[in-house]
Amino acid sequence: MNDIDVLLQETRSFPPSAEFKAKAHVHDSRLHDDAGMAPHAFWAREAATLDWMKPWETVCEWTPPRAKWFTGGTLNVSVNCVDRHIHGPRRNKAALIWEGEPGDRRTWTYWDLYREVNLAANMLKRLGVTKGDRVAIYMPMIVESVIAMLACARIGAIHTVVFGGFSPDSLRDRINDCGCKVLITADGGYRRGQTVPLKRNADEALKECPTIEHVLVVMRRRSGVGDETFAEMQEGRDHWWHRLKRQVPKYCEPEEMDAEDVLFILYTSGTTGKPKGIVHTTGGYLTGAAATTKYVFDLKDEDVYWCTADIGWITGHTYLTYGPLANGATCVMYEGAPDWPDKDRFWQICERYGVTVFYTAPTAIRAFMKWGAPFVEKHDLSQLRVLGSVGEPINPEAWMWYHKVIGKERCPIVDTWWQTETGSIMITPLPGVTSTKPGSATTPFPGIKATLLDSQANEIAVGGGLLAITHPWPSMLRTIWGDDQRYVDTYFSKWEGRPDLYFPGDGAKRDDDGFLWILGRVDDVLNVAGHRIGTMEVESALVDHPAVAEAAVVGKSHDLKGQAIAAFVTLRAGFTQSGSLRDELREHVALKIGALARPDDILFSADLPKTRSGKIMRRLLRDIAEGRALGDTTTLADPSVVASLKDQYEAQE
Ligand code: PRX
Repeated sequence: MNDIDVLLQETRSFPPSAEFKAKAHVHDSRLHDDAGMAPHAFWAREAATLDWMKPWETVCEWTPPRAKWFTGGTLNVSVNCVDRHIHGPRRNKAALIWEGEPGDRRTWTYWDLYREVNLAANMLKRLGVTKGDRVAIYMPMIVESVIAMLACARIGAIHTVVFGGFSPDSLRDRINDCGCKVLITADGGYRRGQTVPLKRNADEALKECPTIEHVLVVMRRRSGVGDETFAEMQEGRDHWWHRLKRQVPKYCEPEEMDAEDVLFILYTSGTTGKPKGIVHTTGGYLTGAAATTKYVFDLKDEDVYWCTADIGWITGHTYLTYGPLANGATCVMYEGAPDWPDKDRFWQICERYGVTVFYTAPTAIRAFMKWGAPFVEKHDLSQLRVLGSVGEPINPEAWMWYHKVIGKERCPIVDTWWQTETGSIMITPLPGVTSTKPGSATTPFPGIKATLLDSQANEIAVGGGLLAITHPWPSMLRTIWGDDQRYVDTYFSKWEGRPDLYFPGDGAKRDDDGFLWILGRVDDVLNVAGHRIGTMEVESALVDHPAVAEAAVVGKSHDLKGQAIAAFVTLRAGFTQSGSLRDELREHVALKIGALARPDDILFSADLPKTRSGKIMRRLLRDIAEGRALGDTTTLADPSVVASLKDQYEAQE
């Protein structure tokens, strides 16, 4: 029996408690039913909870594969996330409770945030940024990252956040792809007791970024060993955040943005070597972010909400920044690693701030499981009431551990399926409604139409198929920056003649109760510890090394990371395989892309298994990497290649 069948035999079901239901925003099926019949009316109602400067004329214009939402309407995202909370009882409410890895702590109220966002917006203006300009943000997990995003939104600049763990090359490519005018960074950040030299990385990247005119640098390290010499400042180009702040006016009039104006670009991996700049707009995105945050996490004013994602990923955008702040929530933000200085850091934080809603990734949950319950039991987690999971399929064992050890069998678990492209959660339980099953993301969010199709676009009622979204939704991506054709080809061309069907790239199964079980990507995209990485990106990084002639990369199952990277490499003449070359290649990939892409295994091989037309058969490489019997090898040009690879791989293990 394979893993999928084991998964589908999961019959345990966990209904919400009567106590939870009684207080939940949503406690019966009416929201799903009503939104199912009239999705536009549902989304219009949710959009109406935002502050608009001018009301929209049309809820949705759908000319497949193009959707526009709330056309004619105008609003400003920073006003919705900050200004509208400062006139009432939320004015002095904690917006962000921040903790740095070394232990420094600070709380920003909504009023604090308001002041800081205005100042930051004026700093950007002072540096010549105007509406529509692109601003790159390459930051550690400090509050200034959120402030920088909101400041861009305030003046109508388009931000592109680049994860602080990415290499200078990755940063450079993203800046150049969308032509950023300004980069916001910090001197450094802290991770596992080490400093991450962000400004130095940025300087390296900027050697080849002709569009960057100015760099705004936050001094993160002032509380630690740092001083101004940690970052070398280039006269005229670089400016300290804390100094420029003193020179600008305190109030910045928010820009009136069209609902369809671009809010941000976020790069994510696809099946080619070049990451895609996913474009999200203003009105629809914020509507999706705000509504899902409220209903999926049953978010209330008195909650202390903690999403552990980094600001560099879509989860950090939608569920650390825009969704919770639009709801006026109190959010916890933590800079560092979960095991620093010890493996109970997260639970210490939950206890210290009384976290009530906790949202993390299965890879983290599996690590907590491995570290053991005693680290959790040292702390009082009695305030927790909702637990969330995102980023990859959660195995039932990890789900049960989360339920028992963290949630004490009291807290509903919401396993949320979505993507950078979808902008907000698409398939998920609602904690006061759904009887959850360990390992299933359950059913589409109200107003979302998701189903399973076969390759001919026939619907699959029960069984396995390709996930498809059959109706537009407000927070959907609008295009890929600079490559609109790729938008059409990647997402709306899977089913011939059906540009109305969105293809996310995932396979799933539907059980007898209509619940969906996401199985993972069906394309050449890997999911390593919840991070999305294209096999081609890693292959390009490998062949960039002078010793490598050809490389093929596949994912293999990994207990903690979900997937790990296995690479098969053929060397150029004159190079010989060795342990040190293997280490060098692993480091080379980390240097080119970032540590998250470092391969676990590298196997040297004289040849790679190819079809007669020269295509590398990754399917067979996956079989080898996962130690399975080889699948069909009849289409191989030279079947002996794969047999010898298998022997070598097993010998190496
Ligand atoms: O394969 C799915 C997986 O993560 C992919 C999206 O990655 P990214 O754009 O980086 O966004 C991650 C955070 C939203 C999806 O195509 N994925 C995400 N959530 C789940 C998931 N797989 C299974 N279950 C989930 N809950």
